[in-house]
Amino acid sequence: MPKGDSTMKKLLHIIATPRGEESRTLKVSSAFIEAVRWNNGHWAFDELNLFTEKLPELGINHLNGKYTLMSGKNITPELQPYWDQVTCHIDRFLSANAYLISTPMWNFGIPYKLKQYIDIIVQPRYLFQYTSSGVEGLAKDRRMVVISSRGGDYSGEPMKSMDTIEPYLKTVFGFVGIRDISFVNVQPMDAMGPDIRNQRIHDAQEQARALAAHF
Ligand SMILES: Cc1cc2nc3c(=O)[nH]c(=O)nc-3n(C[C@H](O)[C@H](O)[C@H](O)COP(=O)(O)O)c2cc1C
Repeated sequence: MPKGDSTMKKLLHIIATPRGEESRTLKVSSAFIEAVRWNNGHWAFDELNLFTEKLPELGINHLNGKYTLMSGKNITPELQPYWDQVTCHIDRFLSANAYLISTPMWNFGIPYKLKQYIDIIVQPRYLFQYTSSGVEGLAKDRRMVVISSRGGDYSGEPMKSMDTIEPYLKTVFGFVGIRDISFVNVQPMDAMGPDIRNQRIHDAQEQARALAAHF
């Protein structure tokens, strides 16, 4: 990123599959990133792979940090080393203007590493605060694209109501102030064989490129 270029914006790519080259989700995400790069040179990219990154395992000291802030107090020197493990991820998250989440469906929801990351970064005073009129999200004016591949097809009922990814991510990121969230669901990846899979990946790549055109 050219130093001092105030027009440069950052997209944080949060990867929640360990499958690398084999990943169907990342095939679609790559098409999105390439198209954003092609359409608009003002984006810088930061890649956060949740399966290779060292994420803190939240224990009592990290949680005591959260409860300290919720009670309106400041982090104590004893808790500070634990809290630093949390804030380094928050700082990285808040330094971005936009997010791309690449996540497969695991047991009707998000993989545990993505849940762990969300539990790390969603903290009072940083991502939300309580006000006299209720909770205020502090990550406002940011947008998000979620690309999610699934073995089955959850586009119509009764399967749709089993998909907890879309409602959960809308809820938790809406809570921190991110309301502009677009979903690209890539499905079915396993249930209908390779021809349908390849076709749906192709269709989703087109959908992702169309989204990138307005990014
Ligand atoms: C642990 C695990 C749990 C899964 N659970 C579901 C599920 O509940 N529903 C579904 O449709 N597919 C499920 N799948 C299939 C994946 O969602 C599907 O293969 C997806 O395309 C994998 O994405 P990736 O290639 O980007 O990792 C599961 C896969 C794994 C490894």
